[in-house]
Amino acid sequence: MDATKLRRAIARTRLAPVAAFPKRLARVARHDARVLRVSARWLVTSREHHNYTYELTGLSRHHLSWFVSVVCDVPVARVRGWFAEIEGDDELRRHIERATAGAARRGLADRQVRYARRIGWYAMVRATRPAHVVETGVDKGLGSCVLAAALLRNAAEGHPGRVTSLDINPEAGYLARAAPWSGVVDLVVGDSVASIGALDRAVDLFLHDSDHSRAHERREFDAVEPKLAPGALLLTDNVTATNVLAEHAERTGRRFLAYRETPARHWYPGDGIGVAW
Ligand SMILES: C[S@@+](CC[C@H](N)C(=O)[O-])C[C@H]1O[C@@H](n2cnc3c(N)ncnc32)[C@H](O)[C@@H]1O
Repeated sequence: MDATKLRRAIARTRLAPVAAFPKRLARVARHDARVLRVSARWLVTSREHHNYTYELTGLSRHHLSWFVSVVCDVPVARVRGWFAEIEGDDELRRHIERATAGAARRGLADRQVRYARRIGWYAMVRATRPAHVVETGVDKGLGSCVLAAALLRNAAEGHPGRVTSLDINPEAGYLARAAPWSGVVDLVVGDSVASIGALDRAVDLFLHDSDHSRAHERREFDAVEPKLAPGALLLTDNVTATNVLAEHAERTGRRFLAYRETPARHWYPGDGIGVAW
């Protein structure tokens, strides 16, 4: 019996899993060794302990450009241009590096600037030119800076806008306290649901990125619904963990899409962008 016939004969028997074991073991060991290598490198080279930053893989970036293109109904080449615009913004990059180096919690932050899915937020603001963006959850203020950079470019093209950034922590947002970005950012301290209830301007683009519990995310979308301008875009950073925005979209007659990012050279599986419109 030749080798192929023998393999086929074994595949029909209960011995098949035993025979395939060495190949299966090699496969999973290669995968796990890679995860261990990446994790070990991260443990010694990064200082971050939450809200990790990383680059996207080339393929993940490509998928993100198409995601934004479809949602915002703009050519994908323009989206790629906006990605290049934020990534090539050396003034913002230098500011973030300097502010991080001088921050009180610098021992727990990496100086290297890595935006990951936030380049998608940037492109959506460039594409839709909102007058009022609301971001819940600010942390250091990396997302607020990216949103502010997009709003500043829109303003230079005749479409001014502001971002209201909400966080319960009074120390949040230190990256967004410097000009010119601070000129379009309103930092509000307090629980996000109460702060959304107190908003006195219509919201064109809303981004949930605060307390990622299902209940809190749902409370935010319920609270912002009566504050939305016609055609507003709703985003969530929690889409890999809950279905809250999809359910909200269905209840309110909107469309919904989800993008799942893939970090490059990082052990973290990544987050994503959920959008309802
Ligand atoms: C994931 S971080 C935000 C990340 C940020 N958007 C960025 O782009 O880097 C989550 C933030 O939500 C804030 N937070 C948690 N619970 C909150 C609440 N109930 N109201 C407002 N902010 C809250 C935390 O203080 C933390 O700074």
